[in-house]
Amino acid sequence: MQTTIRHAEQDDYAAIAHIYAQPLAAAGTMQIPLQSREVWKQRLAGMATHDRMLVAVVQGEVVGNLGLHPVPNPRRAHVAGIGMAVRDDLHGRGIGTALLKAAIDLADNWLNLLRLELTVYADNTAAQRLYQNHGFVLEGTHRAYALRHGQYVDTHAMARLHPAPPGVR
Ligand SMILES: CC(C)(COP(=O)(O)OP(=O)(O)OC[C@H]1O[C@@H](n2cnc3c(N)ncnc32)[C@H](O)[C@@H]1OP(=O)(O)O)[C@@H](O)C(=O)NCCC(=O)NCCS
Repeated sequence: MQTTIRHAEQDDYAAIAHIYAQPLAAAGTMQIPLQSREVWKQRLAGMATHDRMLVAVVQGEVVGNLGLHPVPNPRRAHVAGIGMAVRDDLHGRGIGTALLKAAIDLADNWLNLLRLELTVYADNTAAQRLYQNHGFVLEGTHRAYALRHGQYVDTHAMARLHPAPPGVR
């Protein structure tokens, strides 16, 4: 599947809202179902300049999103958090891999980030496999981290360190 990765533009808010409105995307992330598109419009408009909001485009349509969010605290300036989703009907076609590869390239080779971190639901094996394939390791478990479909569910903390950080850190 021919997938192009680019940075999100203001006009992408409706497509991104649509991605996170899908049942699997909402269940796999911290997004809330039935969210207004306006919420995403404001999020994109209010995003800090150091936040990287990548989108995956297939046949002219935005079908995936990955946010790479550097931590503002200067003591954690080497760290960024990741959140992502691909439209429910297009899972398993390499779109998530393309987004994550692009984010890792930015982090490793352009943004001087040492540590990428995320939380993933303990039962979300597809996402965990994607992250493991790209060097993320399990660091621990948050118990009853979030409510999902009326039940408290655990998440795993996963992180990846730059495999060969430039210079002395
Ligand atoms: C997690 C997610 C982003 C992966 O995107 P994707 O485009 O489906 O991923 P890819 O097609 O690039 O596949 C990546 C890996 O995940 C695995 N995978 C994808 N879908 C899978 C599924 N339904 N079951 C099991 N594994 C699956 C693939 O096997 C692949 O591993 P492999 O290369 O070793 O075979 C996507 O499933 C998604 O949006 N899920 C809902 C939201 C979510 O969970 N976000 C993550 C929050 S931490």
